[in-house]
Amino acid sequence: MKSALTAKFRAIHGRAPEIIARAPGRIEFIGNHTDYNGGTVLGAAIDRGVWVALAPRDDQQRRFSSDQRGAIVSVAVDRLERLSGDESWANYPLGVLAALPVFGVRAPAGFDYVAMSDLPAGAGLSSSAAIEMASALAFVTAAGEQPARETLVKAARHAENHFVGVPCGILDQGVSGFGRKNHLVFIDCRGPHFETVPLPGGVHFWIVNTHTKHALVDGLYAERHRECMAAARALGVQLLVEVSPAALAAGERKLSPVQAKRARHIVEEIARVDRTRAALRAGDLAAVGALLTASHRSSQMLFENSTEELDFLVDTLVATPHVHGARLTGGGFGGAVMAMTSGDFAEHHANEVAVAYGRKFGTRPDLLHAQTGDGAALLPV
Ligand code: GLA
Repeated sequence: MKSALTAKFRAIHGRAPEIIARAPGRIEFIGNHTDYNGGTVLGAAIDRGVWVALAPRDDQQRRFSSDQRGAIVSVAVDRLERLSGDESWANYPLGVLAALPVFGVRAPAGFDYVAMSDLPAGAGLSSSAAIEMASALAFVTAAGEQPARETLVKAARHAENHFVGVPCGILDQGVSGFGRKNHLVFIDCRGPHFETVPLPGGVHFWIVNTHTKHALVDGLYAERHRECMAAARALGVQLLVEVSPAALAAGERKLSPVQAKRARHIVEEIARVDRTRAALRAGDLAAVGALLTASHRSSQMLFENSTEELDFLVDTLVATPHVHGARLTGGGFGGAVMAMTSGDFAEHHANEVAVAYGRKFGTRPDLLHAQTGDGAALLPV
């Protein structure tokens, strides 16, 4: 990947890059929509990601290109406005450039930039956080800054919230920033506080990407965000993390039926994250798997961000040998399901799931046997 990126950079810009940064995509392990409610969440960085190559320029132009969009997007340093159409992918790095000064970190002036990815886009693996984190690391390096990792994560999330316009929490950027091979990242989103948690040996991840995407997915994510905030307000707290199961039971009559379902999902899901940590510590993979599947059922019934396709995959996966548990991963409303399996779950098992899906829905999902990987890092040029 790195040599392909360097070759691409040379072909486009006629010189070698001076900085190369890479950041991984992530699996949301458990903690669905808990992050922006101030809750806890567990995720894993995977061995696929986004690479960014950069070399400073003497003038005031920032020139972006990617392996997926050939044309160069050229933006003057003093023009930090949101782009649309074919150029809109550049909003991720532009958003990071706009966010860095908000956190007291200098952004570089002119540069040439090329991004390359081996992360399937739209698969719920957060290619957007990966490009933000790889860009952030490349930009601060070019500007001669060395901010704390947490600052990079916050700036990348700020870019997503305020420039791209998605009211996401800190899960995706946090896992991409703090990921570690053979570990999960635990985030207490109120700090935020980041910790790595060892993953018991013999655990495998399979991602089944449906390529379905609800037409209103961005609007629906924002709607869930609003519903959760409204439920918190009605319960007299700022964020749903402050509500215990007992307080929810006592206050539920103050909520509309929809708010009550959303709040119950969040409160119970935060408890499930804690139980998952305990089960991981005990090495009890059957218990972890059951919690993952219970998380999906809660998304399906209470948070209502699943789809017929995702439910079918979870049902089929959990009925397949060597699967500990399965759940939708990420925002929902389409996208992908992840399964935690033992090493005995083989390619042919995954194929049988894909064939069953094809028989029902007429299309074949993509299968990805993902390994855990390390978080964002600079690479030698
Ligand atoms: C998306 C968001 C995350 C998180 C998940 C749902 O991936 O970007 O911040 O809210 O959805 O848990």
